[in-house]
Amino acid sequence: MTLSGVAAQQYKQMTFLKRQELENSDNFLQSFHSRYPGVTSKLFAHAKIYTGFSSYDLLSEHISDEYAPLTVLDLGCGDGFLLEQLCKRKQKKHHLIGVDMSEAELHAAKKRLASQDVTLLCEKAHNLSLCDSSVDFVLSHLSFMLMNPIVDVIKELRRVLKLGGVFTAVVPGDYLFKL
Ligand SMILES: C[S@@+](CC[C@H](N)C(=O)[O-])C[C@H]1O[C@@H](n2cnc3c(N)ncnc32)[C@H](O)[C@@H]1O
Repeated sequence: MTLSGVAAQQYKQMTFLKRQELENSDNFLQSFHSRYPGVTSKLFAHAKIYTGFSSYDLLSEHISDEYAPLTVLDLGCGDGFLLEQLCKRKQKKHHLIGVDMSEAELHAAKKRLASQDVTLLCEKAHNLSLCDSSVDFVLSHLSFMLMNPIVDVIKELRRVLKLGGVFTAVVPGDYLFKL
């Protein structure tokens, strides 16, 4: 089997972790992402899921230049594919921040975004180093459902988002029903 075949199989396994497995999933996620950094964008960047849009497009469409400059956080940014897409689209200067707990994914993001003005932070979503009420938009692509305990992450997002700020996530279809 090819490397991407193995990664796709493991990815499927990871996405369908049971709730009890999620309790101890940090080590699994760290080891998975250090073996396959960038696997998510390789699998999903070119998949058009909705009238010609990829699932990344659905998130980046939210960031308009009309209200620039905005502070935008990509939570669980992986190899920085969504951030790069935002850099390409934006006409005006937004402050872009990527957070991920995987050093391997962040390393890939740093390479991808080497020429861009993006802040990349290696930290957990439960304990962000960002200031209170400092973020306009939080975007999260196929990451939010892996964060556990999710209530702590939601509290943290509430803390860092400005009043009227927006959180938008792409998650697997059945995730919300399991919450
Ligand atoms: C499936 S990947 C998605 C990566 C990227 N958003 C994309 O779609 O290309 C999930 C990412 O979330 C990160 N992650 C999972 N739990 C996290 C947590 N509690 N805090 C920060 N990052 C986390 C993982 O390290 C991984 O890079």
